[in-house]
Amino acid sequence: MQDDALPLAPPAGSAMWRPEFIFGAATAAYQIEGAVDEDGRVPSIWDTFCAIPGRVHAGDSGAVACDHYHRYAADIALLARLGFGAYRFSIAWPRVLDDQGRVNERGLDFYRRLLDELDAHALQAFVTLYHWDLPQHVQDRGGWLERDTAQRFAEMADRVSRALAGRVRGWMTLNEPWCSAYLGHVEGRHAPGLADESLGMRAMHHLLLGHGLAMQAVRANDAAPVGLVTNVNAVTPASESPADLVASERAAASVNHWVLDPLLLGRYPEPLAQLWPGAQAPVRAGDMATISAPMDFVGINYYFRSIVASDGGHGYLERWLPNVERTQMGWEVHPEGLRDLLLEFARRYPNLPPVYITENGMASDDRVADGRVHDAQRIGYFARHLEAVDQAMRAGVDVRGYFAWSLLDNFEWSYGYDKRFGIVHVDYATQARTPKDSALEFARFLARRT
Ligand code: FCB
Repeated sequence: MQDDALPLAPPAGSAMWRPEFIFGAATAAYQIEGAVDEDGRVPSIWDTFCAIPGRVHAGDSGAVACDHYHRYAADIALLARLGFGAYRFSIAWPRVLDDQGRVNERGLDFYRRLLDELDAHALQAFVTLYHWDLPQHVQDRGGWLERDTAQRFAEMADRVSRALAGRVRGWMTLNEPWCSAYLGHVEGRHAPGLADESLGMRAMHHLLLGHGLAMQAVRANDAAPVGLVTNVNAVTPASESPADLVASERAAASVNHWVLDPLLLGRYPEPLAQLWPGAQAPVRAGDMATISAPMDFVGINYYFRSIVASDGGHGYLERWLPNVERTQMGWEVHPEGLRDLLLEFARRYPNLPPVYITENGMASDDRVADGRVHDAQRIGYFARHLEAVDQAMRAGVDVRGYFAWSLLDNFEWSYGYDKRFGIVHVDYATQARTPKDSALEFARFLARRT
């Protein structure tokens, strides 16, 4: 039975009503697991970053987070009860390899137990191999600024895919390399906290090389599809002036195309040379072929759009439109942007592989009252983004699945616990989980499929 009168559902007749379209929820290790000192886990760059005063809101850290390391069974049972068919989670590199690069079986066992739980509930596992928690000892040897880190990452991917082969529905090498390269090395808002315009291209190249090498490693061990997850922003020029149009091209290049062009066209976008004059990717012979080896799918994370104007120089400015709907992050809600980006990518990249929406969602200042969380804005957000994805699919884009960000309220990086993205509320004092209205509406929609 289809019912598009449900507050949260794709339109009637959408292919998203069919059971083969995958609906899941996503998380990341450092944001939910806690247990940072257990079972041989070594420190990550986020442990280090959180300990530096002033870097993270209210001095928060992922030390306890949602205590998912101990509560994973109940969390997975809840995900299944809501009717989702898949779970996207990440593997903490500092848990699964020790500081000599040897497998830490106790750390790997956590993910084996998690996969057992997913199996028990017939949930499909989508595994991200790197969601930003680089081991600190790798950072101490230069981190992503060093080519060797790409090799170290491929080794991690090899060990993990060998251990978990046959149990994973989809492998994702990197989550959002733009955030690692740009926020981590150019702006310094993310770990490792470096702020130098000249470093971004270097970090990005080694991340993407790491992706290519990791993809080879995973494919040698397992037949499941492999891809990468990238964040994309809708970009709208502030005006039709030539200067604003050029600035918008730069903005699109510096986020969307910086990752997708090398992966799908085998080259870096040209506007980056104007944006960061002198900064060059340290490309060696063969690198671009490794990076642009065909992926089985690409994961797209979408949250908001930017209004872009010229800065009068070689950069660009972001403007805020008045009177538009925004989230707790201040991000503009603009579902059409997701549709337009998917259509743009299908045009720009003739070899665009099947797409999964691997993250989409919003933060709001949610409170529990009488056992309920009335997150009406989030319900509307999801409904309108599902409609946008459906429109792209009707126009021919091959989208296979959609993951809500996030299953749980969690550690939102430099914003700490202040921003709540979950469809399930977490009371950090008691670790009580309360499904928000959006989760219950997702459940009503998912129950009506088949
Ligand atoms: C993405 C990240 C994810 C979460 C959301 C809100 O950039 O992949 O971990 O922080 O944003």
